[in-house]
Amino acid sequence: LKQLLEKHLKAGGGVEIAGLRDKLPDSHGLKGRTPLEVMAACSHGKGASCSHRKISLIGSGTSWHVSLLAEYLIEHIARIPVEVQYASEFRYRQPLLQPGDILIVVSNSGETTDAVESLRKVRRSPNGESVLIIAVVNEVESTLARESDVAINVSAGSEVGVASTKGFSAASMIFALLAAALGQETGTFVAAEQGVFLDHIKAIPDKVQTVLDRESKSLKREGTADKPLEIGECALWDIACQNALAQNVIFLGRGFNFPIALEGAMKCKELAYIHAEGYPAAEMKHGPIALIDQFMPVVVICPKADTGYEKIKANIEEVKARSGAVIAITEETNTELQAPLCEHVIYVPETHEYLMPLLCVIPLQLLGYMMGVLRGNEVDNPRGLIKSVSTK
Ligand code: G6P
Repeated sequence: LKQLLEKHLKAGGGVEIAGLRDKLPDSHGLKGRTPLEVMAACSHGKGASCSHRKISLIGSGTSWHVSLLAEYLIEHIARIPVEVQYASEFRYRQPLLQPGDILIVVSNSGETTDAVESLRKVRRSPNGESVLIIAVVNEVESTLARESDVAINVSAGSEVGVASTKGFSAASMIFALLAAALGQETGTFVAAEQGVFLDHIKAIPDKVQTVLDRESKSLKREGTADKPLEIGECALWDIACQNALAQNVIFLGRGFNFPIALEGAMKCKELAYIHAEGYPAAEMKHGPIALIDQFMPVVVICPKADTGYEKIKANIEEVKARSGAVIAITEETNTELQAPLCEHVIYVPETHEYLMPLLCVIPLQLLGYMMGVLRGNEVDNPRGLIKSVSTK
């Protein structure tokens, strides 16, 4: 994962698929430019014959969560309107796409039928020819890559497990870099700010490795899969042992970490077969709070870098007041969340607020995996799930 993220940094974000940019319609005036340049230029018409204003992002499952994170990044950094929809919904709606808009289809496999049919629907629509369609995929030889105007290969390599993990991280990195490129084009990301952000991005691969080294001991025990870890071998294993029999888990996060709360809940469902819900932290008051008691673990993504930190801390106190067991994720420098406020604290290195999702998602993926192993599930091939839903 570290090498993959470093590769993206070196390539300036996104490894393009050879030849695809040649497919760009002449009217876009963008031939010969890299995918990120194309997307950035199209965002406000600079250097292009079109004046794109709105970006629609679509995906399914984990790819929808990546799309949601992309919305936060692009909106904050580049100040461009973005809307995110499930491909399965978009496909049957009447999308209001104007000439110059951009459709970004995110799909690890590049084959999910709802995403493919959404792309085709836009192509066939009255403004279809003047909408720039970009695919963000992990499969070079896929239908989405072939049928889009520009494809960005997240190059995560083939994922063995059905539940997506490294594909999520690689695509998130692409969108962080894309948002920065767009911000430069739109002039909303001033040089000083951008410099700091890019320095933080460059440090992400090492920080991801730090989280993996600290918390993934069970993954390294190749050939000893039957030998259980001892309690205390790593924080996540303890947490997994104590919560593997839970029937429900709530995941909370605000802003950039809201998509991560959704992704954490999805990993919990996919790998551990435990009912889980992800919510924006403050929405807890509108329903989920009624469910919280001593049997309800609540995972709260709560980095101090988050501008909503104090509010999330208040949410933790509300969970605590209802005897819920809080598992917090925060920076290793933050000492405010230890017991008795939270049952467990998972620590990650410090980084920029916008990039915290790239670090916080790792422990949540591992937690789902460990609880799945403890429950005797086939974590690489969860029941009922397939890698790519390519049926009509
Ligand atoms: C299936 C997989 C998920 C994946 C989703 C979208 O449901 O089990 O892991 O996130 O499809 O797949 P895509 O290939 O379009 O990203």
